Amino acid sequence: MISVVIIGSGNVAQHLIRIFNQSNSVNIVQVFSRKDMNMDFLIDSSKVTNQYRDLVAADLYIIAVSDNAIAEVSNQLPFKNRLVVHTSGSMSIDVLNNNNRKGVFYPLQTFSKNKNIDLKQTPICLEVQHNSDYNVLETVAQSISEKVVPINSTQRKALHVSAVFACNFVNHLYKITNDICNDNNVAFDMIKPLIMETAQKIMTLSPTAAQTGPAKRQNTAVINSHLTFLLDENQKEIYKILTKSIIDNG
Ligand SMILES: NC(=O)c1ccc[n+]([C@@H]2O[C@H](COP(=O)([O-])OP(=O)(O)OC[C@H]3O[C@@H](n4cnc5c(N)ncnc54)[C@H](OP(=O)(O)O)[C@@H]3O)[C@@H](O)[C@H]2O)c1
Repeated sequence: MISVVIIGSGNVAQHLIRIFNQSNSVNIVQVFSRKDMNMDFLIDSSKVTNQYRDLVAADLYIIAVSDNAIAEVSNQLPFKNRLVVHTSGSMSIDVLNNNNRKGVFYPLQTFSKNKNIDLKQTPICLEVQHNSDYNVLETVAQSISEKVVPINSTQRKALHVSAVFACNFVNHLYKITNDICNDNNVAFDMIKPLIMETAQKIMTLSPTAAQTGPAKRQNTAVINSHLTFLLDENQKEIYKILTKSIIDNG
């Protein structure tokens, strides 16, 4: 069994705790939670601490805290020469303190606390400072996913930027869709089959081949009528930028 300490109690930390709890090769020996000590629903309270000095020995420490807190947290770890990784898509491996052996354990997925997810098909992108640490990290990753890949910091940043487009921006467009539906008394539910088909279609077609709509057809009359219909300036701007991008780039 590989012993693991999870540092953090947010979206990613909670998912990792839940999933590692089901693993036969990983044992969560402790969770560091800065203030939310009540994690009974996930782990025995005797295993939760909010004191860095009380951190126990482990094979691996996973820092799953906000990007801008990773360096500060790693600076506070009261030990040396242990394997410490973060879970960020965009932060360099170098933000981790030199006192310990560094690595990255980036699950390429979207995590929200109240939505369970099976990580088996989720790529876990690994990076290590010392090659000798790869096997431990790989064993931990393989205990939760069938897709474990070594990725350097530049490739990881490219994947994270891509994920912002494919997930965060698309989800923001769902939010705008929801607002437009609400403002016009039509149910957002009516759009959901379209959302599902759009996502499923690119499993078999390229995004360029899958594109439809007035921008793809360069139907200026429809585009202008939509711009007249939209009253919100932010919605108009986004509509114009995306329409131009589709016309210019396919
Ligand atoms: N969410 C995703 O979809 C996703 C996907 C892949 C990777 N990631 C990466 O995973 C990491 C965690 O993301 P998340 O979504 O889980 O974040 P989150 O839900 O916002 O949770 C952040 C955690 O960091 C802790 N924290 C913040 N500042 C701290 C500090 N100065 N000292 C100690 N703890 C501190 C917070 O503690 P408090 O609760 O006490 O404030 C909280 O437990 C990030 O690097 C993120 O880029 C996220």
